[in-house]
Amino acid sequence: MRFPTWVEIDLDVFEQNLARIQQAVDPARVLLVVKADAYGHGAARLALAAEPRVAMFGVATLHEGIELRAAGVTRPILILSPTLPVEAEEILDYGLLSSVDTLEFAQRLSEAAARRGSPAGFHIEVDTGMGRTGVSEAGAPEFVARVAALPGLRLDGLYTHFPESDAPDLGGSREQLRRFLQLVERLRAAGVAVPRVHAANSGAAVRLPEARLDLVRTGILAYGLMPRTELEPFPGIRPVMSMKSRMVQVREFPAGATVSYGRTFTCKRPSRIGVVPAGYGHGLSWLLSNHGTLLVRGRRVPIVGTVTMDLTMVDLTDVPGAQVYDEVVIFGSQGGETLGAAELAAGSRTLVYEVLCTLGKRVVRVYRRGAEEDQVTTLVGERSVVTPPGGEGVRVEYSRVPRGGGVRFR
Ligand SMILES: Cc1ncc(COP(=O)(O)O)c(C=O)c1O
Repeated sequence: MRFPTWVEIDLDVFEQNLARIQQAVDPARVLLVVKADAYGHGAARLALAAEPRVAMFGVATLHEGIELRAAGVTRPILILSPTLPVEAEEILDYGLLSSVDTLEFAQRLSEAAARRGSPAGFHIEVDTGMGRTGVSEAGAPEFVARVAALPGLRLDGLYTHFPESDAPDLGGSREQLRRFLQLVERLRAAGVAVPRVHAANSGAAVRLPEARLDLVRTGILAYGLMPRTELEPFPGIRPVMSMKSRMVQVREFPAGATVSYGRTFTCKRPSRIGVVPAGYGHGLSWLLSNHGTLLVRGRRVPIVGTVTMDLTMVDLTDVPGAQVYDEVVIFGSQGGETLGAAELAAGSRTLVYEVLCTLGKRVVRVYRRGAEEDQVTTLVGERSVVTPPGGEGVRVEYSRVPRGGGVRFR
């Protein structure tokens, strides 16, 4: 009962998922997508755990790449989103691979690489139908030729992305893949060295085997979830994260009493209302107001009233014995009942991706290996319990808080 609200991240499950994915996609290798703090799981911690099993990491921003290097990650790191010309120097400082989408950026990268005297690797995304980033299919041969001719640059990979690899009909994705491979053939025939090609995200990695190519760019599947709720779970894959809280108050309200901001819920009977110390500031969407359910004592209890920044209320009237400090499951399992992140996402009218990525910084992350606790990270850094010799005066310390009286207060 150490934290009001926390997530548990099972590193064993995560590593088993990675092994299962590698087994399924072999001989392709895994590019593990750890952008957005590894979908809320903690990018540095998960990348270090994954490093022996994956070929490369994918991030979205320069700083996400630097974070991994600072944590000691040595494998190649590809920045999947376009970066600014002004970021070229730092990209090289930290040995990151960029996705080159404009000539301006390519020129700056080339100049920076030439000054250093060592080639800068990069990838190019070809837009075969995603309608987001990358160079157009029609313009790709000329773009690749112009960029490849710049001094100091080394084309390491060419890739494309599917907007619908989670849809029932995979026809559009197959057509994208066909055109992408045709382009790769054409470039190779023209003498351009394209060492690696990749296309598949999680949906395509499991549903479109011909799209696995050299690397699969896997995010959500590694974290144990399917890209879309309606898809059959992939055998052997389990959710890595569960989210929990503790009821901090249980109140008795008479019929007619109202709950929370805006008075959107009125008790129709004498009610027991539980207060859960998690709100939209923790990542619990305001759209769950009067809508979602949580688990208490292995039973689903309705959220009543509006979700607030820090606190959410549930109706416990039908849960005999529910009391203050009971565990609350926000997503995960309890007493044989499971409420998945996908269900919470549906109640929040969003994707499971958003539920994970919007987890607040203040939610404590408890990393586990099976039953053993491996590490606890908090808003103020890693938490450790220091037991002095003799066992007297046990102290809790946080890695980002100065030790020995560095914090002054009155
Ligand atoms: C370019 C690219 N590749 C791969 C992924 C990973 O997708 P998923 O989490 O569905 O595997 C993403 C994530 O959004 C992406 O933007």
